Amino acid sequence: MPAIRFPHVQFFGRTWREYEQIWNLRLDDLHGKRVLDCPCGPASFVSEARRRGIDIVGCDPLFALPLAQLRARGEADIAETMRLIRTQNPMLAGNDPESYASEKRKALDELLNDFALHGPSGTKCDGRYVNAALPTLPFADHSFDVVLSAHFLFTYAAVEDGGMMATREFDLDFHLRAMTELARVAREIRLYPCYGVDPAHPMRHPYADPVLHHLQSMGMNARYERSTYDQGVPEWNFSIVASR
Ligand SMILES: C[S@@+](CC[C@H](N)C(=O)[O-])C[C@H]1O[C@@H](n2cnc3c(N)ncnc32)[C@H](O)[C@@H]1O
Repeated sequence: MPAIRFPHVQFFGRTWREYEQIWNLRLDDLHGKRVLDCPCGPASFVSEARRRGIDIVGCDPLFALPLAQLRARGEADIAETMRLIRTQNPMLAGNDPESYASEKRKALDELLNDFALHGPSGTKCDGRYVNAALPTLPFADHSFDVVLSAHFLFTYAAVEDGGMMATREFDLDFHLRAMTELARVAREIRLYPCYGVDPAHPMRHPYADPVLHHLQSMGMNARYERSTYDQGVPEWNFSIVASR
């Protein structure tokens, strides 16, 4: 089966419930912490967390776009990702691709409703959505207790390096620079997933050990932790957690 090969990073996001499974935590565990979701994409975690009184910021380079373009991009990317998953790699959507896709549309709708109100052009703009791209973030040193980073790092390495990108834009050097930046802005870093995306060959992502060692070389306690987000391949269910 040919690998999924994206020309650009997909604006494709999870619900807050999926985030809880990914990070093996309950949203309420984050009370009292300052949290960064990087990249946030169209995940609904920031919206739900803010509703629960959690101090969280979501950043993404696509937050530079106006709302209508963000919606069009999100809808197009869900359709394209689901088309590719169905035709090339159905396991990525678990046992029920329809409900998988509908969860992604729910997350996009929630993000867009919240972004309309609280994003940079919203009437209640409060800085919760920030236009920013790794490896250079516009945040002060150690301004967050924890940064959550899902489905960008590792996932969008080149296909030949265990990811889904047609290009080598996000190579190992990019990943190491991104780690240095995340370690500058946050005391704890959580990364998911850290597997190669081909379910026929489940394996730890080739960048995962170098990233872990880089975090350790910066004095962080970095380790693999089990995730409870079930995508049908047990070898996939690990995150990297690094803390000071
Ligand atoms: C698949 S989404 C992940 C969203 C969310 N974290 C999740 O797990 O559902 C990947 C996101 O990475 C963003 N992205 C692309 N280039 C980036 C960069 N250089 N730094 C940070 N985010 C980037 C894209 O705009 C996209 O929204």
